[in-house]
Amino acid sequence: MSNTPPTPPVHEAAKRRDWPAYFDRMEGKPARDTVLKALKSFGEIDPSNPPLAIDLGCGAGRDAAAMLAAGWKVWAQDGSADGISRAKERPEIKSALQTGRIEIAQSNFQGLQIPKATLVNASFSLPFCPPDHFSALWQQIDAAIEPGGRFSGQIFGDRDDWAIIDDRTHLTRGETLKLFDQYILESFTEEDRPSKHTDEHHKHWHVFHIVAQKRTAPKRGSVS
Ligand SMILES: C[S@@+](CC[C@H](N)C(=O)[O-])C[C@H]1O[C@@H](n2cnc3c(N)ncnc32)[C@H](O)[C@@H]1O
Repeated sequence: MSNTPPTPPVHEAAKRRDWPAYFDRMEGKPARDTVLKALKSFGEIDPSNPPLAIDLGCGAGRDAAAMLAAGWKVWAQDGSADGISRAKERPEIKSALQTGRIEIAQSNFQGLQIPKATLVNASFSLPFCPPDHFSALWQQIDAAIEPGGRFSGQIFGDRDDWAIIDDRTHLTRGETLKLFDQYILESFTEEDRPSKHTDEHHKHWHVFHIVAQKRTAPKRGSVS
């Protein structure tokens, strides 16, 4: 019998913000369901005039690659230099860099300026924005999404075990829904469950998985 201790689950790397270890463990994983749903909702893209999709906290590029494959132009960013260099090595991203169909850069959420776009995606990345910068980041996201455009991604809930970590942003269900007051929720799933780990790696997950379309006119009764 081997005495090698079992490898800790991948969420332990995310908890410590050990992004190279996280990307190692996630290598080969397909694009997230939320971004795939959002891309599908737009239907066929006019290849002569592709719309812009943004990937915030793109990591090693799994969602950005799917955006390119669906025919979109892409603007992607991440705070991790390691993530950006892995993303740039993906064949779809490598060739799109040569044709200028993707811009991908290392930058932090803090102080980020986001260009106008038809889709803004943030898969499992917004919880890592420090709480005192989240409101400015969300204002940027909301202002970037054009009417009829979509948001896809995750917000972590207040019952998640990581909600006690100082530099994380966790919102209640009510606070999360308020972000989307001027959106139509096309998919809103609340995951609120213990992990399957019964040892020290146990984690209670509380995650909102969201695909939402920005209204083309303000909702009745809303105050601007
Ligand atoms: C859990 S990973 C998700 C990566 C990818 N979106 C995915 O779905 O696999 C979180 C990502 O957020 C990025 N990140 C964390 N804090 C950040 C910050 N303050 N500014 C920019 N990116 C950040 C990390 O570098 C990492 O790539």
